[in-house]
Amino acid sequence: MHAPILAPSLLAGDHANLASSAAIVEQLGIAWLHLDIMDGHFVPNLSFGPQTVAALRKHSKLFFDVHLMLDEPHRYIEPFAKAGANQISIHIEPSYAHAETLARIHSLGCKAGIVLNPGTPASAIEPFLDKVDLVLVMTVQPGFGGQSFRRDMLPKIAQIDAWRKERNLAFRLEVDGGIDLATAAECRSLGTDTFVAGTSFFAAKDRRAFAAAMAKL
Ligand code: DX5
Ligand code: ZN
Repeated sequence: MHAPILAPSLLAGDHANLASSAAIVEQLGIAWLHLDIMDGHFVPNLSFGPQTVAALRKHSKLFFDVHLMLDEPHRYIEPFAKAGANQISIHIEPSYAHAETLARIHSLGCKAGIVLNPGTPASAIEPFLDKVDLVLVMTVQPGFGGQSFRRDMLPKIAQIDAWRKERNLAFRLEVDGGIDLATAAECRSLGTDTFVAGTSFFAAKDRRAFAAAMAKL
């Protein structure tokens, strides 16, 4: 079982001071930063693009875990790789060449992840399990931070972890949406090893204690 990783989501940071929000994460010794990219089509919200990621890259050595919530993610792989993404995760729901896009991400030197929405069954991503470094299970409908964790996603997490064990695969299993210490612990007990936290991290009274508790899950 992989050691737990906390990936604070910059979506909950200060959008007028994104570099300082990233620095808060780095100064706590956290390794990952989750970057939510939204196109206003796949999700009903807009966030930031490759230019912002490239600007952040100059200020940060964090592992950039880039979550593309885009209708046409295949068109944006190279810009995000060039901007300094370390990992790029793409949703299964839109129709495009998923396997080729995952291969493209790898060919540009990044790790590759596949993401599924709450309404998408685990079976949709099953053919890609041996082609990815990470599976991201959305535990809210993506688009906005601060929503409640969807407990009905727990069986899906357990199913993906079971496939991982059966097939002796090593991808990371990440959850995103409504994650705090309590919901993270529930997910951890079912095999999750990577935890995106936006609101709960940035609003925590003691972020250092929050990160330490996450590291002990
Ligand atoms: C949701 C994004 C999340 C978001 C999570 O569309 O993919 O990464 O920042 O926010 P919280 O942790 O507040 O639910
Ligand atoms: Zn995300």
